[in-house]
Amino acid sequence: MTDHSLYLKNLWYLAFHSSFLKKGKLVGKEICGEKIVFGRDANGNAFALRDNCPHRGVPLSHGWFKNDTIQCCYHGWQFDTKGTCTGIPAMPPDATFDASKIKVFQYPLSEINDTVWVYIPEKKLPNVKPVLPPPNLVLNAEQKFKHVETVIMPADIDHSVIGLIDPAHVTFVHQSWYWRSAKKLKLKEKKFEPTAMGFKMVRHTPSANSKGYGILKGGTSTEITFDIPGVRTEHILVGQKNQVVSITCLTPLNDKQTELTHIFYTDIALANFLWLPLKRLGKQFIGQDLGVFNKLSEGLASKPTLSLIGDPDLQARWYYEIKRTWALAQQNNEPFVNPVKPQTLHWVT
Ligand code: FES
Ligand SMILES: [Fe+2]
Repeated sequence: MTDHSLYLKNLWYLAFHSSFLKKGKLVGKEICGEKIVFGRDANGNAFALRDNCPHRGVPLSHGWFKNDTIQCCYHGWQFDTKGTCTGIPAMPPDATFDASKIKVFQYPLSEINDTVWVYIPEKKLPNVKPVLPPPNLVLNAEQKFKHVETVIMPADIDHSVIGLIDPAHVTFVHQSWYWRSAKKLKLKEKKFEPTAMGFKMVRHTPSANSKGYGILKGGTSTEITFDIPGVRTEHILVGQKNQVVSITCLTPLNDKQTELTHIFYTDIALANFLWLPLKRLGKQFIGQDLGVFNKLSEGLASKPTLSLIGDPDLQARWYYEIKRTWALAQQNNEPFVNPVKPQTLHWVT
């Protein structure tokens, strides 16, 4: 059984990079345990519908998509890209039945900087209006992400989020000779503040024991934001005019799998030369997380009691608190008030 409190609703989720959606092709994908069919019409506009034919429930993603018409593979019912039924082939010509009364639920969708976001509403009402805009991806409208990497984590959204905002595992999971060394562990002090939908580590100079930052010369500073449902944005400013935007998005597929997508942007010319090593480093990081998550899922199979202790785990506690507060606010139709207060945290990494 799916735990419905696991998924936050009335929020935007990353579906995939825009390049996944080709004109005339249907792509079925599960998000928050909901089956969704995505497509792109002849004008290039992306759309998302519930992936069940309202006739007998066959996934529409198994059907055909031609001339902006989706046709179910079972009895050939036809739908436009808004989900309105436009034809029932078996219906005799003298039937008075109005097919346009049949509708497939249409999800709000937004395409920003070459990424496709879908809004998952609590109630599947026709013409549902999102309660908030899609996330701020930092980039200008014309800028595109330079690299996209996707991996499926064998864990639910909660474990995946905690893994993403957990500072203490870095020393043990991401340790490598060119990144940092266990011998150089340091007491860190990080200032946190609430954001509209989460919290952020206030802009600061990156720690000197991360050699990864060493290549970025000229007054580097970074700000790391976490927003529900699972978007971690690292915004690095280099000197007066350059930036690096590194965003990790978590999309819960179901209660056992969460898709992690890393999107990366920089306007630093040097990065073009360092592209391959940078890419390899990013791949290695994600691979290390995946490795420890395979071990985690092995451990969680026996449903052990877990604990979140002290400052190193406080962000995980905040996540649960924000999650609870958001769900309650949606349920009661009240404004969301972020429970996180500004605070300085300490840990050794
Ligand atoms: S199930 Fe789709 S047309 Fe019958
Ligand atoms: Fe990690």
